[in-house]
Amino acid sequence: MSLKNDLLLRTIKGEKTERTPVWLMRQAGRILPEYRAVRNSLSGFKELVETPERAAEVTIQPVDILGVDAAIIFSDILVIPEAMGLSYEMVEKKGPSFPETVKSDKDIDKLKVADAEGIHYTIDAIKETKKALDGRVPLIGFAGAPWTIFAYMVEGGGSKTFSKARAMLYKEPEMAHRLLDMITDSTINYLKGQVEAGADVVQIFDSWAGILGPEQYAEFSLKYIEKICDAITEVPKTVFAKDAYFARPAFSSINCETVGLDWCMDIKESRQILGENKVLQGNLDPCALYGSEKAIEEATKTMLKEFGPYKHIANLGHGVYPDIDPNRVKHYIETVKSYSAEMR
Ligand code: CP3
Repeated sequence: MSLKNDLLLRTIKGEKTERTPVWLMRQAGRILPEYRAVRNSLSGFKELVETPERAAEVTIQPVDILGVDAAIIFSDILVIPEAMGLSYEMVEKKGPSFPETVKSDKDIDKLKVADAEGIHYTIDAIKETKKALDGRVPLIGFAGAPWTIFAYMVEGGGSKTFSKARAMLYKEPEMAHRLLDMITDSTINYLKGQVEAGADVVQIFDSWAGILGPEQYAEFSLKYIEKICDAITEVPKTVFAKDAYFARPAFSSINCETVGLDWCMDIKESRQILGENKVLQGNLDPCALYGSEKAIEEATKTMLKEFGPYKHIANLGHGVYPDIDPNRVKHYIETVKSYSAEMR
């Protein structure tokens, strides 16, 4: 099906587009009252993830309400551990929690490599969303990077230090690689399923990249991200590794079209390190959206000027925060649209 708004895909191809495309990480859910209404009509977050029609509905809400140039499928990175045999709970106001964690080889013996069928609800949600979008904007599929998924499976939930997960890298490096391999193979199966179902682009979120030093990052994260990027050949790939400024030279040569930047990464320096070939995505500080409309305009224009008109996908430097006013988000999106067109 041909897309009515293919700005994102043309930008990824390096074409000189009429303006900069814009979408937001975590745009589906979190900020919209319309999302909360749907979620409150169900038992909670997981039922929403596992009900394809409703997941499709909240995926499309930001396209209708905010005017973004892409949809991202409503799901979570933690569906992978669940399909491998380690289920999670989403605790209100606290976040994810795993009743069982991985501590030993015995625990890994109980897990399996997941196939896309094991996450059929998100695959079905992608099909539903593609149908309902009717080509209005492209659909982004996603998965967590193996290291970030590993961190949750070993730690059992969010953490400031992820010290259990990092300790395993020193105490049992072979065991860590065994689990990372299984997560990687599961992720490849899952992303291939997403692409077959209609995802136009896929993004890999390495949210906990920044807690590893450069050598450990190369060994326990980057290697697996590269394997995934090499395996997904049908659609463009985006890698977003939060806080991994030290890994930017390596990202310049991995098999992905787009690299996401967080707001602490200097834009011009990142362009220099990553080279002219990569498309860059990001990177307004999510907190800029707490500012006045005028402050948002100023910050957005500064960001757009630094990235330049082409090979840039406007986004935030991390997911939008839950208590940000949707009208401010809209103002950001509208500023990107008008100013980036003027900039040409
Ligand atoms: O981007 C989108 O809008 C698509 C949907 C999406 C969700 N989670 C829905 C969600 C995506 C892409 C994710 C990715 C995700 N999930 C990441 C990587 C991106 C990042 O922010 O670093 C991580 C680390 C998770 C794990 C996770 N899921 C946490 C820590 C939490 C709790 C706190 C929170 O809101 O982030 C979740 C829950 C979650 N995932 C919610 C949503 C809309 C909130 C649940 C609710 O109350 O409805």
